[in-house]
Amino acid sequence: MRNIQWILGVEPVKMPADWRAMVKDLFLKETGEVYADASIASLPIPLWDGNMLLVDMDLYPEPSSLRGLLWALPFLDEGVRIAAFAIHADLQGQGWGSQAWNHLVAACHGEKKSFIQLEVKASNQRAQEFYRTRGLDVEVHLENYYQSGLGYMMKGPVPAPVP
Ligand SMILES: CC(C)(COP(=O)(O)OP(=O)(O)OC[C@H]1O[C@@H](n2cnc3c(N)ncnc32)[C@H](O)[C@@H]1OP(=O)(O)O)[C@@H](O)C(=O)NCCC(=O)NCCS
Repeated sequence: MRNIQWILGVEPVKMPADWRAMVKDLFLKETGEVYADASIASLPIPLWDGNMLLVDMDLYPEPSSLRGLLWALPFLDEGVRIAAFAIHADLQGQGWGSQAWNHLVAACHGEKKSFIQLEVKASNQRAQEFYRTRGLDVEVHLENYYQSGLGYMMKGPVPAPVP
């Protein structure tokens, strides 16, 4: 039984280069998107509860321990934008994404954020379903956002806290 857990991440620019290489690999494998190291390093993800890494604690702190990440950033006064969200294929569909989402929602309450938005490929129906179930809807069609074709901007309110 692997010891998998979410931990808080550092700002991408402060991440060691071998960790960023694993991030690049994860993005390519799970989203099909090619990112240059410089693009990953320049993502403005602060040190906060919306910066989470999924790691195998038996391998941590080796870069090969990386199993997923959720990178979100404060956006305008009341928003949060998810810049990247990916779970290693072997661990998808086991509740890890939902756990990170719930953690992000709690962080949004702490920061008085009222909406969450993100970009997703039009072809990625499973991710759209994940977000739709959680109250987000397609607001804008993005014609030239992805190299591979159409994208959607999805947006929705931060759900009320569970009493
Ligand atoms: C989208 C993603 C982050 C969700 O994380 P996850 O850990 O797989 O999600 P969960 O295990 O918490 O399951 C989420 C939902 O998918 C459903 N699900 C599980 N396995 C599934 C499968 N094989 N096919 C379709 N749906 C599935 C679950 O029932 C759950 O349903 P719910 O929303 O009604 O609760 C993850 O699947 C992923 O990394 N996908 C590839 C990269 C990607 O598309 N990222 C998003 C870019 S915007």
